[in-house]
Amino acid sequence: MPYTTLLVDVDSHGIAIVTINRPSKLNALNADVISELDDWFSKAENDSSVKGVILTGAGDKSFVAGADIARFKELSGEEGQRFAARGQSVFNRIENLGKPVVAAVNGFALGGGSELALACHMRVASENAVFGQPEVNLGIIPGYGGTQRLPRLVGKGLATELILTGAMIPASRAYEMGLVNHVFAPEELLDGAKKIVSKITSKAPVAIALSLEALSHSDLPQAEGLAREAELFGKACDTEDFTEGVDAFLEKRKAEFKGR
Ligand code: COA
Repeated sequence: MPYTTLLVDVDSHGIAIVTINRPSKLNALNADVISELDDWFSKAENDSSVKGVILTGAGDKSFVAGADIARFKELSGEEGQRFAARGQSVFNRIENLGKPVVAAVNGFALGGGSELALACHMRVASENAVFGQPEVNLGIIPGYGGTQRLPRLVGKGLATELILTGAMIPASRAYEMGLVNHVFAPEELLDGAKKIVSKITSKAPVAIALSLEALSHSDLPQAEGLAREAELFGKACDTEDFTEGVDAFLEKRKAEFKGR
């Protein structure tokens, strides 16, 4: 499928930079962007040449300024529910990729843009990034996961304030509240994101996938989460990479992981 709204570049280390490319509309998420994200991430899951992903926006002004408001005109209740469910399923696919996905937030991350960043495993931002859930200004609520992922990340009090006031906050405040892990100068953002992803992709790939899966259970009641952790720990023990990792440590050499 040829993409009209996504640019994809996979480097020799298997790090894919996926750029949402509608800069004249501040990379707002229209149906094409959603379909192309769905298509690319569904293929990337089983593509062994992709080891990690950086998601960003084209231009120097915006990551993603939200869902495409032009589409909202006369959206009925039923259509609205389908619209939200469709975006949620694509964002769930990103979250469940099994490989690290880092959002490199290079400007506005508003509404669906903030929610897209929240569906990534980590977020880094440029100094000019602006985060917000301004849906209440339009008479709607976040529909691509904001009411669920934002409180899990920053706590219910701060999430409630952001969602109810529609406030836009700078990268420095997003960093203070744990919404982003690092803030970089704009020209250093992609390199900063790449350093994090390449550090992760140098580790045992199955252990990374199992860690992501275990972390995805961190909202379960603790006893259930611990049971899942033990189960996934057991799976890791059955991998060749586990044998290699332990042998390499004992033999004082660098491990050579095979991803099995
Ligand atoms: N959907 C559709 N188009 C959008 C958009 C969105 N979410 N956000 C920006 N655009 C478009 C604008 O309509 C404009 O298009 P035009 O040049 O054809 O008129 C273009 O992107 C540039 O945006 P503009 O508003 O002129 O830039 P700005 O620097 O003055 O303001 C924002 C930037 C982000 C503050 C402003 O665009 C905005 O508030 N966008 C909507 C954010 C939002 O509510 N998102 C949540 C949606 S649920």
